[in-house]
Amino acid sequence: MPGTAVIGCQFGDEGKGKIVDVLAAESDLVVRFNGGANAGHTVQVGSDSFAFRLLPSGIIRPNVLNVIGNGVVVDPGQLLEEIDGLRQRGYAVENLRVSDRAHVVMPWHKALDTLEEGVKGGMAAETTKRGIGPAFEDKVGRWGIRVTDILDPIVLRKKLESYLPAKHRIILALGGTESFVLERIFNQYREFATRLQEFVADAGFVVHEALANGKSVLFEGAQGTHLDVDHGIYPYGTSSNCVAAAACVGSGVGPAAIGRVIGVVKAFTSRVGAGPFPTELDGKEAEYLRERGGGEYGTVTRRPRRVGWLDLVMVRLSARVNGLTDLAVTKLDVLGGLETVPVAFAYDHYDEELRAFPANMHVLAECNPVYEELTGWEDLPPEEWRRIAANGFGALPKEAQAYVRWIEKELGAKLAFVSVGRGREDTIDLRRTTVTPRPTARLTEGPTPAAPRSPRRSAKSHRAK
Ligand code: GDP
Ligand code: IMO
Ligand code: MG
Repeated sequence: MPGTAVIGCQFGDEGKGKIVDVLAAESDLVVRFNGGANAGHTVQVGSDSFAFRLLPSGIIRPNVLNVIGNGVVVDPGQLLEEIDGLRQRGYAVENLRVSDRAHVVMPWHKALDTLEEGVKGGMAAETTKRGIGPAFEDKVGRWGIRVTDILDPIVLRKKLESYLPAKHRIILALGGTESFVLERIFNQYREFATRLQEFVADAGFVVHEALANGKSVLFEGAQGTHLDVDHGIYPYGTSSNCVAAAACVGSGVGPAAIGRVIGVVKAFTSRVGAGPFPTELDGKEAEYLRERGGGEYGTVTRRPRRVGWLDLVMVRLSARVNGLTDLAVTKLDVLGGLETVPVAFAYDHYDEELRAFPANMHVLAECNPVYEELTGWEDLPPEEWRRIAANGFGALPKEAQAYVRWIEKELGAKLAFVSVGRGREDTIDLRRTTVTPRPTARLTEGPTPAAPRSPRRSAKSHRAK
């Protein structure tokens, strides 16, 4: 039976952890397939809150097998910290498997993350500094150390002897002074290996077996489509593929393993880090969105998230590149209390209306959003949203219903979930029992413009916060 992928459609932090947690109740296996400890996925169960970095969001359900796939870069120290943290909270964590083929984040990756950002000037993405970019650079450049390598002292030593001198030269060239002692790293990573050994498996085989035996498999995406290294706002995104197709490569199964792709769309837009953001708000409006519904602060870094209105130009691209079949719209509660809710349906680029998301970052920075103003709905307290969620979609304020239906129509994917609060109970499930047929994509975007106009106009300069 093909599985379901849950994918972020914006700049990450759309509420993927929450949707995965809800779906995990009916799943046998949850697999993370991309990113690393740059992710922060929040799961709220009653008054208990979990912020998962590397662990899949099904880990607190003992009957669900949780897999960290080969596509993830694993920081072993961070993973062990998460495992220890959960054990202290009474979870056994026996339901975890870690791919033997996943690459490992090494101490020089973190050092290089900071150094590389420091020399990139305006091109720096303002990363989470978790060593993610350099770890993926090493993977692709064939300098990587994999989980299977740290289990083997001979291979680990050989790789450290081969790679460390070159890494020191790069660190020096970038203005760094840090020097790593081979023996110390060897011992530290051997200790990590001893502790992680019990979880290590041929993860691709595990996922394949589950699918072959008719189990329900959930592919948990990290980051979001507009942080994807191919389809996102390059170079202001992350270093892995975050789109649905990456779920196969990053878990070790074929494309037919995915039958349903649920795109998670926050009812507005937020991002942490640098880069153009056409619908970004500042002042009072930004504060309104940032401070409500639990607050928009980074789960990993606690940085205040930049916020703006929903941008359908962005999300339309996400619907296409992910082949979305279904939609989950989150944080609808946060928009309560506004007279009208603006949604960008196109960009104005020198009086030309663009419906396609530009590839060129200068063009994107020159774009002004063209808004449709939708009627707002009342501000309600959390307990009222919970009551509404219990009564289903029809209980939502009719303007809120119109808002999400409008998004659904624009994206051509079936509305599956509406989320109106942090908890499991604050979720409306609209799924049909049958598998959603793939909608015929309404590709109304048109091609992207090739180059910026000259002379350049800073219609909407992007700000790094
Ligand atoms: P992820 O990275 O996509 O898993 O998202 P994060 O966990 O980083 O950020 C989403 C935040 O929004 C978390 O604090 C969630 O608890 C919270 N959240 C998720 N859905 C809703 C919702 O519908 N309403 C409100 N108010 N908060 C939500
Ligand atoms: P989840 O899975 C939001 C952003 C960083 C930075 C850029 C590159 O919780 O949605 P990196 O450390 O990956 O090299 O940083 O990507 N970023 C995220 N933003 N949510 C995330 O993950 C993110 N992971 C990375 O802020 O701009
Ligand atoms: Mg997050």
